[in-house]
Amino acid sequence: MRLSSTEKLRLEERLNLFYSAFQHSTDAIIITDPNGIIVEANQAFTDLFGWTRQEAVGSSTRILRSQHTTNEFYQQMWESVNEKGRWQGEIVNRRKNGSEVPVLLSITPIYQDGAKLGYMGVEIDITEKKKIEKQLRLEKEFSESIIETANSLIVGLDLKRRIILFNRKCEEVTGYAKQEVLGKDWFDLFIPEHVRPGVDEVFNMVVAGELPSRHENNILTKSGETCLISWSNTALRDEKQAITGALAIGIDITELKSLEQEVLQAERWATIGKMAAKVAHEIRNPLSSISLNAELLEDEIGSYRSVGTDEAKALLKAIISEVDRVNALTEEYLQFSRLPHIKRSPSHLIEVIEEVLEFLRRELIQNRITVQFNVNQNVPEMLFDRDQLRRVFLNIVRNAMEAMPKGGELRIWTEKRDHSQVVHIADTGAGIPEETLDRIFVPFFTTKDFGTGLGLAIVKQIIDEHGGQISCRSKLGEGTTFSIALPDKVNA
Ligand SMILES: Nc1ncnc2c1ncn2[C@@H]1O[C@H](COP(=O)(O)OP(=O)(O)O)[C@@H](O)[C@H]1O
Ligand SMILES: [Mg+2]
Repeated sequence: MRLSSTEKLRLEERLNLFYSAFQHSTDAIIITDPNGIIVEANQAFTDLFGWTRQEAVGSSTRILRSQHTTNEFYQQMWESVNEKGRWQGEIVNRRKNGSEVPVLLSITPIYQDGAKLGYMGVEIDITEKKKIEKQLRLEKEFSESIIETANSLIVGLDLKRRIILFNRKCEEVTGYAKQEVLGKDWFDLFIPEHVRPGVDEVFNMVVAGELPSRHENNILTKSGETCLISWSNTALRDEKQAITGALAIGIDITELKSLEQEVLQAERWATIGKMAAKVAHEIRNPLSSISLNAELLEDEIGSYRSVGTDEAKALLKAIISEVDRVNALTEEYLQFSRLPHIKRSPSHLIEVIEEVLEFLRRELIQNRITVQFNVNQNVPEMLFDRDQLRRVFLNIVRNAMEAMPKGGELRIWTEKRDHSQVVHIADTGAGIPEETLDRIFVPFFTTKDFGTGLGLAIVKQIIDEHGGQISCRSKLGEGTTFSIALPDKVNA
């Protein structure tokens, strides 16, 4: 083909135009021959990689390869260029000075009249983009780790109440794994039927964009128990500020609530205890003068030998024994309200139990109760308040006796545990119905016509003060076992 001179001129102008565009492109561009040998590189390329045009031309594109590009990757890249006519992707390249630079690379083959002349590579520096991506990833990981490690329950719901966020604390409290609940309806799974309307209302308010709210409600755990959670709620929004769901952060206050109630209850008992003590104190003096006068009267008529004195004597006996009983009751009330602080001294547990059994021996025989006392003689000397522990065993053995009005067996044995000595006291009495078992230590709880309900309350108080523990197992009609664990650290 021959070109006229005007055509030649136009071609040259156009070539200049293309060259100038190539040279001034802000993206780095190289052109290679079919073997990947660089035949042309523009200004942006030399700026980005530090090779001069002269150095680059004649070199293989391998001079750009960093250690991050594996052989397989390189191979696949070139295969893709030849098969699909193009490859684009993010890779890390190497500069002349050895430093690395992340780039977005596009490679396209160049053809002329069906023959492959070579390739063109365009590289865009994406260092900034990578930096931002990394920052975003770190921020995401950071917030995810906060969500995961938070000691609060964090739950996210979409507008259809499906669970989209469920952190580790949620798993811990509810017993469900995240995978089990994601996508499921929060209300179906966790909200007990009877609190649903209230929680419904809260959810609707939150997703209607009302101010962040707080409320408490019970949730169901996997095992069917309920936990009381205090929630702070706020709406989840997308980048356009449209509400996409609700976010709730909760604290498990089950224990706190029961503690609160215990404190309240304890305060109530303290008040009642004070009142009881006051009453007991007030009747103590008149009671002792009744007792004294009755005894004087008994002496007085003791010598009489006339009609009716026997009857009078019997009546007096009855008065005296009733007064004694009331005395014992007031004594118990006073003990309860004025339990002194414990005074520990090195003592032998076994001795104390033996003393109590000795003290009650006659009553036990009278009530046809046999005693089995199997002790481990190795129980070491321990630090405790002897008088108060005597009171403990006295109360428990008395209760056992009262539970076996027709006789039975009392078994006492000791057991060594890790950091404590345990004394078990078992009777073959009436037993305690399951529904009252957790109330027997509550002050004033009694099932007896003339009981004070203070015996076990006193026992518990004393054991608590010694840093010990008391528990009770019982079977109706079979008997009851009390177990007392006392810390055996000598220097406790
Ligand atoms: N060994 C026992 N067997 C059956 N019931 C018991 C036994 N010990 C305690 N209880 C129950 O616990 C209640 C509370 O005991 P306690 O505090 O000693 O008060 P009280 O003996 O004055 O009733 C008793 O009324 C009784 O119902
Ligand atoms: Mg009692």
